Amino acid sequence: MSSILVTGGCGFIGSHTIVDLIQQGYHCISVDNYLKSDPTVLDQIHEITGVKVRNYAEDLTDETALDAIFKSNDIEGIVHFAALKAVGESVEKPLLYYKNNIGGMLSLMQAAVKHKVKHLLFSSSCTVYGDSKELPVTENAPIQKASSPYGYSKQVCERIIEDVIIGQEMNAAHLRYFNPAGAHESLLLGESPINPPLNLIPIITEVGVGKREKLVVFGQDYPTRDGTCIRDYIHVMDLADAHTKALKHLMQGNVKNGKVEVFNLGTGEGTTVLEAIKAYENVSGKKLPVETSERRSGDIPAIFADFKKAKSTLGWNPKRTITDIMDSAWRWEQKRSPH
Ligand code: WQD
Repeated sequence: MSSILVTGGCGFIGSHTIVDLIQQGYHCISVDNYLKSDPTVLDQIHEITGVKVRNYAEDLTDETALDAIFKSNDIEGIVHFAALKAVGESVEKPLLYYKNNIGGMLSLMQAAVKHKVKHLLFSSSCTVYGDSKELPVTENAPIQKASSPYGYSKQVCERIIEDVIIGQEMNAAHLRYFNPAGAHESLLLGESPINPPLNLIPIITEVGVGKREKLVVFGQDYPTRDGTCIRDYIHVMDLADAHTKALKHLMQGNVKNGKVEVFNLGTGEGTTVLEAIKAYENVSGKKLPVETSERRSGDIPAIFADFKKAKSTLGWNPKRTITDIMDSAWRWEQKRSPH
């Protein structure tokens, strides 16, 4: 039986995507070194799907270990999530990010070519667009100079895939996420940051359960409707659905061998920081203690997606709103942080 190898399968988006893939009939295996994830996620996947997914606890940069995984499995497709993704940390530790994200990509591509893998989905990010002047952002928006080693590692990995698959019996897609958030409807899976989260939504819910004293709003002097930054928050279950649809699109041969198709995965709705806070207060019935500070360096005023291409090509329609995202994130936080 052929398998889909999910790298980073015990991570936030990886685990939700494995659940969706299994529910759509795919056989999945995972490779995840648990650097930023927890093995218990496999038990939750089992509880939701009834399937015990095998995870190889290996580092993608270990070429020998990776080769052994491909030798012992018939891997038809790869969904590549495994990467470090904290923008600020990447600025402090560029070598770690380049070695891990680009080194892992190179090692994975080497194994994929050697073992004649046919399909590759890459977990990319809207960060590759930088501070796009065109809003909503389409897939044709220019790729600008990345504002962090994290963002640059995503741009480099996209280019590695584009160059390496030329001449191979392999097709691929870059899935450029906007701001993933929320938790699985079962509340068995959600964002479980190993380190304190840096993203807005998990920080809001941590303040909500008293793990943090207050939310600091990084700047209220941006040229937006309420002075705070606008982002396109996308529910992780909608994101998982898009991966399964994109893989099916590749497996049906709708992308020529040697070619890569790009999809923006966002809701098309922009939400400001203050509107996200309001969404939390509405679902929780609690006021959020907030303080405003200076802007955070590297933040861009506004970015949100034009997802028409994913809608028309993949038949994908994000269903969940910022309220749904916040409701699931809040319930998940309450469950994982008994107070
Ligand atoms: C959102 C907004 C902050 C925390 C990053 C990566 C992106 C993706 C998602 C990986 C901004 C504001 C935040 C806080 C705040 N990562 N904020 N106080 O920076 O849009 O995107 O994470 O795939 O690639 O770039 O997300 O959640 O950090 O910030 O005011 O304590 O919330 O200034 O305007 P970001 P974020």
